[in-house]
Amino acid sequence: MRIDVLTIFPDYLAPLRLSLVGKAHEAGILDLRVHDLREWTTDRHRTVDDTPFGGGAGMVMRPDVWGAALDDVLTPDAHLLLPTPSGEVFAQPTAHALAHETHLVIACGRYEGIDARVAEHYRAAGVRVSELSLGDYVLNGGEVAALVVVEAVARLLPGVVGNPESLVEESHGEAGLLEYPVFTKPPSWRGLDVPDVLLSGHHARIARWRRDEALRRTAARRPDMLSALDPGVLDARDRDV
Ligand code: ADE
Repeated sequence: MRIDVLTIFPDYLAPLRLSLVGKAHEAGILDLRVHDLREWTTDRHRTVDDTPFGGGAGMVMRPDVWGAALDDVLTPDAHLLLPTPSGEVFAQPTAHALAHETHLVIACGRYEGIDARVAEHYRAAGVRVSELSLGDYVLNGGEVAALVVVEAVARLLPGVVGNPESLVEESHGEAGLLEYPVFTKPPSWRGLDVPDVLLSGHHARIARWRRDEALRRTAARRPDMLSALDPGVLDARDRDV
């Protein structure tokens, strides 16, 4: 997969050279390219923004600069992602869908955002454009969202996470539940003991305990996820939890 990130702060994306995403890049699984948007400016001051038509606070990013950059970077298969607090909320199903793409282009806006004609123009030109929000809060720009999207997508690419089984049971996975609590050695720490069942070696009982805990946690922390569950996936014991 190829991912291009366009930003006025390329250094913000430096952490993508670390850890699993960095290794995926080195292994040739992920071709990650970070570009400085100012490379596409033509004036002495390398201007990327201007005042909003209609008035109001802040600055808006100019469509001509974004257009020049995106014309160079987009390929015929590219899916253009525009991080914005007014986008659709980015969640695990979107990460899975994006992991099947061959080319993602992430355009990081700053200030009050990118002139709305940029999304409109590329949609009209037949480019798939998704405006994505990390959640209901406002960041200073799209760079943190780009970090989040790249990491969430890259770890789903075959060969990135060492043991693919670790992708199966995690929170926001197929079960639609949060993950159960996890424990490791030592079995007793500061007076707190690992639940006996996990030391029992009894696989069926362990699986049941984990499902009960996942259900309890989800009910307490994310009742919205519990109500969204298909009742068909619940067994008789689940209903008692
Ligand atoms: N840019 C600013 N706020 C954002 C958010 N919540 N999600 C994605 N991009 C953003």
